[in-house]
Amino acid sequence: MKKYSVIGNPIDHSLSPKLHNYWFKKNNIDATYDKIKLENHELKNFIQDIKEQKIAGCNVTVPFKQTIIPFLDKLSLEAEQTQSVNTITFDNGDLVGHNTDIAGFDTAIKKLNFSIKGKKVLILGAGGVVPSIIFALKNMHVQEIRISNRTREKAENMRALFNNLKILEWGNLTDFDMVINATSLGLNNETINLDFSSLGNNKLFYDVIYNPHETNFLKIGKQLGHMAENGKTMFVYQALEAFKLWHKIEPKVNTDIFKLLDND
Ligand code: ATR
Repeated sequence: MKKYSVIGNPIDHSLSPKLHNYWFKKNNIDATYDKIKLENHELKNFIQDIKEQKIAGCNVTVPFKQTIIPFLDKLSLEAEQTQSVNTITFDNGDLVGHNTDIAGFDTAIKKLNFSIKGKKVLILGAGGVVPSIIFALKNMHVQEIRISNRTREKAENMRALFNNLKILEWGNLTDFDMVINATSLGLNNETINLDFSSLGNNKLFYDVIYNPHETNFLKIGKQLGHMAENGKTMFVYQALEAFKLWHKIEPKVNTDIFKLLDND
């Protein structure tokens, strides 16, 4: 039986095993998918397990999306440009790092009733998933991407990967059409301590967090009459792209999947 896993730290909140194991059943694939909490010094041995084919493939989440890169033989174009890997395959003796977060975010936005081309986007946070979001937004031809992070230096690091990024001081909520919470605030029901009350109308509040399904950030957005969307669709479609890479099958996405993930 083939083994797959997601590695991260923390990893408890991950719903990847639930989704992949569901799709294994539906597609009659004899495999299991687990979550594994790793420390930095354990990455090397873990990677060796993939080389020895004890593990057939893995997903990578915070905080290893970048630190895993030196252990890999090749990167996809998207992984290279974002310096972010969330999926590893083992192809013809090579460990290959892919980035399916980009496709996940892209699909999630396209499924919304929100025309993003030419819009101004504000990203809060500068952590592991942000390069993927910026990469996807650039392909959607947004007008402007602004980024605001508590630690300004980390936002500035993003400029090494992408040009034309505007950096705002933390808490400076200037004019935007869409605001993305890409901080970890909300994972444990924390509130982002920013005042969103005088933004105008019809903004899109998007949270990368999908568990819990409605963060305080989204609650506030809704209360103020804006559109609010969590990261569940992005999560499902990044998983779908990883599944396709490993099994060469496109799994079905239906309402059962969203119910399954909501039950958590
Ligand atoms: P990593 O930074 O390891 O990639 P992440 O979960 O992807 O982890 O990112 C955490 C993000 O949430 C960061 O942007 C972090 O801001 P800092 O760079 O200043 O640490 C942000 N974050 C976490 N706690 C925060 C808080 N209390 N207030 C504001 N931002 C916070």
